[in-house]
Amino acid sequence: MQQPEFSPDLQVAILAWYDANRRDLPWRAKPGQVAEPYHVWLSEIMLQQTTVATVLNRFARFLERWPTVGDLAAASLDEVLHEWQGLGYYARARNLHKCAQVVVSQHGGMFPGDVAALRALPGVGEYTSGAVAAIAFGLPAAPVDANIERVAARLAAIDTPLPEAKPLIRDAAIALEPPVRPGDWAQALMDLGSSLCTARSPKCLLCPAQPWCRGHAGGEPELLPVKPAKKARPLRRGIVYWLTRDDGAVLLRRREEKGMLGGLWEFPTAGWSAKTAPPDDPAIAGLSNAWSAQNQAVSHGFTHFEVKLTVRAGAWNGAAVPAGAVWSSRQGFDDYALSTLMKKVAVLTASTMG
Ligand code: ADE
Repeated sequence: MQQPEFSPDLQVAILAWYDANRRDLPWRAKPGQVAEPYHVWLSEIMLQQTTVATVLNRFARFLERWPTVGDLAAASLDEVLHEWQGLGYYARARNLHKCAQVVVSQHGGMFPGDVAALRALPGVGEYTSGAVAAIAFGLPAAPVDANIERVAARLAAIDTPLPEAKPLIRDAAIALEPPVRPGDWAQALMDLGSSLCTARSPKCLLCPAQPWCRGHAGGEPELLPVKPAKKARPLRRGIVYWLTRDDGAVLLRRREEKGMLGGLWEFPTAGWSAKTAPPDDPAIAGLSNAWSAQNQAVSHGFTHFEVKLTVRAGAWNGAAVPAGAVWSSRQGFDDYALSTLMKKVAVLTASTMG
């Protein structure tokens, strides 16, 4: 679809608003300064699944530990996974580490300054390559994240439902982009989307783009972009085994590298990666003579399904534990990269069993 043209006055108004209202974020270059690509890339990966507020707390610590992309590449995967706790999917952390190594081995430790080379890096998708290209290298890449998607859909009054609207919104984002300051422009739209052009109650009266906004002119900007009909997430049931030794230590094992929560530690589980009701895992079930079922289950929502784990608690009978499994005291859990799901298991079990 041919996008109608947008007035340059709209671009000037949004950039002027950004100059006056830009958030001071640690990965952003100060006005007139050049952004550091490593910082921009790292912040973009962190921000994919985590709020700005959380990233603000974690970004500096990460950089203190690994000040350069070379330092990150030289770290062990386990250290990186551990530092990533609470920042979203561990596959991202694994790709983050791999990406740092590729930047070192294939690009001499410097992030490449073009969209296609950025896009070829592990864990760098269409959005992230565009964001880093625009923010760190000043290229007109028109990245579209959730905030920019909302702002563009409203400015252009795109009322096709998502996800069909995506290519239209992308075209609108390209048509909106000014010929100057692509990095500031992208971040201006992000800031506008997170402060004024919010999902439920846009503050159009305060918005610098209001005179040109076709969504506002249509009277119901809050309905844009049009959401897809919601599908219920399927429920997967599983079992988690809380096996304790005489001294109170609990059995942990490491999940396989491939698959859900790969490489993370867990209290042994059975069944929840399949859709059917779970049978016991004989390798674990045989380690206690008396399992007691806890009343409360542990529930957790993943993107495509929900999990409900029944907790079985038992005292170890001395039989050989699977290779690679370890005993950890409860105070020692922090030494293992546990998923949020497993942290919930630990919290619930501690509260029900004292
Ligand atoms: N969300 C994703 N990238 C961002 C950035 N550079 N600034 C603010 N919010 C963001």
